[in-house]
Amino acid sequence: MSPRLRVLSGIQPTADSFHLGNYLGAVRQWVTLQDTHDAFYCVVDLHAITVPQDPALLTRRTRVAAAQLLGAGLDPARCTLFVQSHVPKSAREGQEQASVGLFTYPILQAADILLYQADQVPVGEDQRQHLELSRTLAQRFNHRYGQTFVPPQPYILAEVAKIYDLQDPTAKMSKSSSSPQGIVDVLDTPDVIRRKIARAVTDTGSEVRADAEAKPGVTNLLRIYSALSGEPVATLEAKYEGTGYGAFKKDLAELVVASFAPIREKTERILADEAGLDRILADGAARAHRVAGQTMAAVRERIGLLPLRDR
Ligand code: AMP
Ligand code: TRP
Repeated sequence: MSPRLRVLSGIQPTADSFHLGNYLGAVRQWVTLQDTHDAFYCVVDLHAITVPQDPALLTRRTRVAAAQLLGAGLDPARCTLFVQSHVPKSAREGQEQASVGLFTYPILQAADILLYQADQVPVGEDQRQHLELSRTLAQRFNHRYGQTFVPPQPYILAEVAKIYDLQDPTAKMSKSSSSPQGIVDVLDTPDVIRRKIARAVTDTGSEVRADAEAKPGVTNLLRIYSALSGEPVATLEAKYEGTGYGAFKKDLAELVVASFAPIREKTERILADEAGLDRILADGAARAHRVAGQTMAAVRERIGLLPLRDR
């Protein structure tokens, strides 16, 4: 048995690119955790279709999402990367795909987490409630049928748990509700990134200082800068004392460009070899399927369902 704790997380293929909030709040931790944890990551296409999606676009975005995760540093030799719908979850496991009618959104998410026996789930703050439900379901099942599921813990880093919209720094940066100018996409070109950061809403005054209440725009930019550079916010405040917002935003823009350019280039290289990408995902699905199958066999036994035989 592996002495490492297991992590599992997922991301929806509902946009043409992940954004800075996805990257700092979740994906970057996924990359780090590969070295210390038994890591499972999935592109959650079934979650995406809980609202209407264009089928061809969904197919494309699923591959782009997987390629971006690899571009950001996931390594199939160190983690299991797969597409959610490739691993069936219904009780007749192996025979039917879970239909969205079977699982409402948070239940489907709990199924993902519990099926893989995740100890920790690296996500942004907006997922905390969903994780609470997963824990409750695990505990209830365990109480009734005996120890079966690991009750998962959230893995949320406070400094990056909620990145705000550049145009409305009181709202979360969000694929679905932010305006394009409010979001920096990982796949944005350098010019677009520079323009968006230059136009980010700052606050009255000219001091580069963190103050979530009085200066939400500058505070958000300082947190982004600090997360990408590794310098504490206080160090940055001292560095930009008396310079005004202009120099600060210019440096931040170059930092974001330098952070995202390699990811964009690697993503493009991976997408150029679609067959290679599909092989990585098939391999990931096979690994994920083995773990899920073990959990489902235990669940069936605990509940008293007749064991499933090979057909
Ligand atoms: P989603 O795009 O909803 O599939 O989210 C993928 C991951 O990114 C989840 O773990 C979210 O919690 C995280 N996330 C999304 N938006 C933000 C944000 N603005 N700040 C921090 N994390 C975020
Ligand atoms: N609901 C998550 C989001 O919108 C995505 C997700 C689906 C997920 N299944 C998961 C996250 C399992 C963590 C673990 O971001």
